[in-house]
Amino acid sequence: MSVSPDRHPQVPAAESSSAKLPRHVAFIMDGNGRWATARGLPRTEGHRQGLEALRRTIRHAGKIGIEVITIYSFSSENWSRPETEVSFLMGLLRRFVQRDLSELHEANTRIRIIGSRSDLEPGIASLLQEAEDLTRNNTGLNLVVAFNYGARAEILRATRALAQKVLSGDLKPDDITEADISEALDTGGLPDPDLIIRTSGEMRLSNFLLWQAAYSEFYFCEQHWPDFDEAAFEKALNNFCSRERRYGGLDAKAL
Ligand code: FPP
Repeated sequence: MSVSPDRHPQVPAAESSSAKLPRHVAFIMDGNGRWATARGLPRTEGHRQGLEALRRTIRHAGKIGIEVITIYSFSSENWSRPETEVSFLMGLLRRFVQRDLSELHEANTRIRIIGSRSDLEPGIASLLQEAEDLTRNNTGLNLVVAFNYGARAEILRATRALAQKVLSGDLKPDDITEADISEALDTGGLPDPDLIIRTSGEMRLSNFLLWQAAYSEFYFCEQHWPDFDEAAFEKALNNFCSRERRYGGLDAKAL
């Protein structure tokens, strides 16, 4: 299976000079807390520096012509953190949208939010909606923000939506295709991630893009997210470019 622009009409074809550059890179931005603790700082300082690393990453992705980046900025499991940390992260998202939205819009970035909005504070939900609405027609980098996101909950929402279509007679169970499921997910219309980068040494997916990651390449690095910079990004991309993706087939040399 290859990701073709035809399957995902909303996303324009890559303008990158390198054919091997991933179209879509997803980030599990891990290690903010450990970065701060190692320096004797409060965990919130790690998140603050994490936002700086995120800004660098967005700029670099736009500069080198990546089509889509997805960032795991708050998982549905993160509500179990201490209330002070949760409210700091909510405030950080608010500040990020308020301060960076006009710059992102000017840079032709299209923002899309994935995750559940039903239990978000109304102020935050409307800010996220505003960011999506303002940038809807932009044609540059697609910035997908996974906020209050969990992949199993996303699959459940999609399953319910398809079940409703069956119930109303618009869809027959036997006619449901993999493409229907992809379309019903929050990421409908976007290409699947080619590369998923996780910082800070943990090697797991943590309920992130479970359906979409079927053929993703994974890259794990030891750096904590606040230390992730252009050089670290390039290293991950070079590593990706050296891999051969077979999608369950055979190496060309073996045929
Ligand atoms: C994981 O590190 C990081 C998060 C849960 C939040 C990610 C947030 C940012 C990178 C800042 C930008 C945020 C927004 C909302 C735009 P951790 O706290 O789990 O680190 P640890 O595993 O070392 O404790």
